[in-house]
Amino acid sequence: MAKKLYIETYGCQMNVSDTEVIFSILGKEGYQRTESIGEADVILANTCSVRDNAEQRIYGRIGEFRREKSRPGVIVGIVGCMAERLKDKLLDSHEVDLVVGPDAYRRLPELIEAVSPETPQIDVRLSRDETYADIIPVRTDRSGVSAFISIMRGCNNVCSYCVVPYTRGAERSRNPRTIVREACDVFSKGYREVTLLGQNVDSYFWKDENGTVDFADLLERVAAISGDLRVRFATSHPKDISDKLIETMAAHDNICRHIHLPVQSGSTRLLEKMRRKYTREWYLERVSKIREVMPDCGLTTDVIAGFCSETEEDHRETLSLMEEVGFDWAFMFQYSERPGTLAARNYPDDVPPQEKTRRLNEIIELQNRISRERYGADVGKRFRVLVEGPSKKDPAMLCGRASNNKMCVFPAGNYHKGDYAEVLVKDFTSATLICDIV
Ligand code: SAH
Ligand code: SF4
Ligand code: F3S
Repeated sequence: MAKKLYIETYGCQMNVSDTEVIFSILGKEGYQRTESIGEADVILANTCSVRDNAEQRIYGRIGEFRREKSRPGVIVGIVGCMAERLKDKLLDSHEVDLVVGPDAYRRLPELIEAVSPETPQIDVRLSRDETYADIIPVRTDRSGVSAFISIMRGCNNVCSYCVVPYTRGAERSRNPRTIVREACDVFSKGYREVTLLGQNVDSYFWKDENGTVDFADLLERVAAISGDLRVRFATSHPKDISDKLIETMAAHDNICRHIHLPVQSGSTRLLEKMRRKYTREWYLERVSKIREVMPDCGLTTDVIAGFCSETEEDHRETLSLMEEVGFDWAFMFQYSERPGTLAARNYPDDVPPQEKTRRLNEIIELQNRISRERYGADVGKRFRVLVEGPSKKDPAMLCGRASNNKMCVFPAGNYHKGDYAEVLVKDFTSATLICDIV
């Protein structure tokens, strides 16, 4: 009988894509995907190390996975970013049979095969060229409308707070032909949107005997597949977001008007300490350029509260930058020290926890107000929305995103998932536009 494989995925969208690659690699060996842990022969957690609370949550789950081992032959494994970071600790604890890092998934079949109660298996070697370019992921999204495509792996920036360069290794770009092929493939299967993924998509670069391809060129190639295929991307690093990219977006209606541009802090002093390689002024200039070329472009960001040595004045600068830009939405975090990073080695984590929490709460409160204003400003506008399916809150309504990435809900009319619907915004909440069809 076919072995059953269950995977729980944590962390960023790149991990979700990696889970799809793992299903593909093990699927070829006869493993069947299951969504019920109770019937699984192999249980994997695809893990995230970006903040301590992410890791703590996963530790809790591993404890629960162990209970499944009361069934004979069940294998429990850790893959992804924690595997890389905590290899020895995980194996020494005898809690898991398998520890596999993000660049070693091709070896999963043989490693699983080799596991026995006495011989746990481990491979956390990072690679300089692995991109899984030839592997067609097994899609795990439920909509069948919007697919994510990894275009690169790893990260060459060394933001001082960040663990990703250590868990995922050096940056490498994937062959553009395999990316376009994958996008064509999902389009032919009915998908109408692809999101191109990387830690820093602006530094995508490919060179071979046919010439060079940068990120703007790649976007253009994917957008050329069909006017009915929307293209999104994440994440852009502010230091690398080029005029060429902004102009390429503006030149194609099917490249969505949304940029996720993590700022992290509004204080140039702290940005330098974070090694972000841009200043507050640079960031604001890039935002002006984006708005000048695409006035309707959605902008979202990431913010860290309470990084090492952050003063009240630095914090105020973050608030004022948020106010000045007016982000539609933001992911907001308290600084969490990650062992081994430049910040952990060089700077004391000296903002007291209750102060971090207070600053984060202020940031969240401000963003909620700004989000309400940004969503409110869309009332009366018309959008072309890609229908994703029934709305979660009210299954009688449909939902889908406008080009600027805002979620819209509207009556079904004659529309079905995968259609483009024309809607008129009549009301809003801080995270949704409530619309009529027109
Ligand atoms: N490559 C992306 C971000 C990847 S991690 C970029 O450079 O923008 C996603 C977000 O997690 C980061 O933008 C940052 O806001 C947050 N983050 C990363 N490390 C963190 C840490 N040690 N503590 C708190 N938040 C962190
Ligand atoms: Fe981390 Fe910076 Fe790389 Fe983003 S760009 S993954 S924050 S090191
Ligand atoms: Fe987490 Fe690794 Fe992504 S640390 S955020 S899963 S790259």
